[in-house]
Amino acid sequence: MPKRTLSLPRVIGHRGAAEAAPENTLASFREAKRQGAAWVEFDAKLSADNRAFLLHDDNIDRTSNAAGAARALTYDELRVLDAGSWRGPQFAGEKMPLLAEALALFAQEDLQFNLELKPCPGRARDTAKIVLDELAHLWPAAKPKPLISSFVLECLEIARDQAPELPRGLLLEDHPVNWLDLAQNLKADTVNIWDQAATPEWVAEIKAEGYGLLVYTVNDAARARQLIDWGVDGIFTDAPARILAAVGQ
Ligand code: G3P
Ligand code: MG
Repeated sequence: MPKRTLSLPRVIGHRGAAEAAPENTLASFREAKRQGAAWVEFDAKLSADNRAFLLHDDNIDRTSNAAGAARALTYDELRVLDAGSWRGPQFAGEKMPLLAEALALFAQEDLQFNLELKPCPGRARDTAKIVLDELAHLWPAAKPKPLISSFVLECLEIARDQAPELPRGLLLEDHPVNWLDLAQNLKADTVNIWDQAATPEWVAEIKAEGYGLLVYTVNDAARARQLIDWGVDGIFTDAPARILAAVGQ
């Protein structure tokens, strides 16, 4: 059974407050804070020149004014793109932020966070090493520790070995029969499961094994309430204010 020291929130702003603002931008994190979120989640990966920055997809097509594979572009090439206008003209000029910029905002705004290691294809090892190294240098030791998560087992193994003091979340898409073996091997603190895979039985099983349990991504208030009633600790949501109103902090 894991020795959990992490105090989990009921609500985590997914990619900031992705329903109201362009995901994984500073504007989105400010909006999550404005809506009352104490925690945010974001996706971190590497540019071609190994700079840690925030983006969900493998390519930039959906969330910027350009197209192409993120892993093929340097950060200087990414930096000039508009990552806000696709979500509304009021967000024109938002950038894909550097990890360093996001961390500075979180420190200033007293936001806690879940950093999801989201490597471009073939870049798992470097992504975990470089992102965790930056985090160690940039995140103030006096601040609460972030939760590190990933769908990519190699990233979590590196996190376990390189930054054992940071709590880890095993991200799962389906319901693998060996989920407990995976969590134990990674010395995970939380298991972060997909809403559509969540059942009362599996929730009870994960909690009985002593893990924190987070569910992504829930934007419906009644569903969030149901999950909390089943025993889920916290919810990733694009709409922090709506879910906070339903389940509280
Ligand atoms: O970390 C929770 C959630 O963000 C995982 O899925 O695809 O939104 O990164 P995704
Ligand atoms: Mg994510």
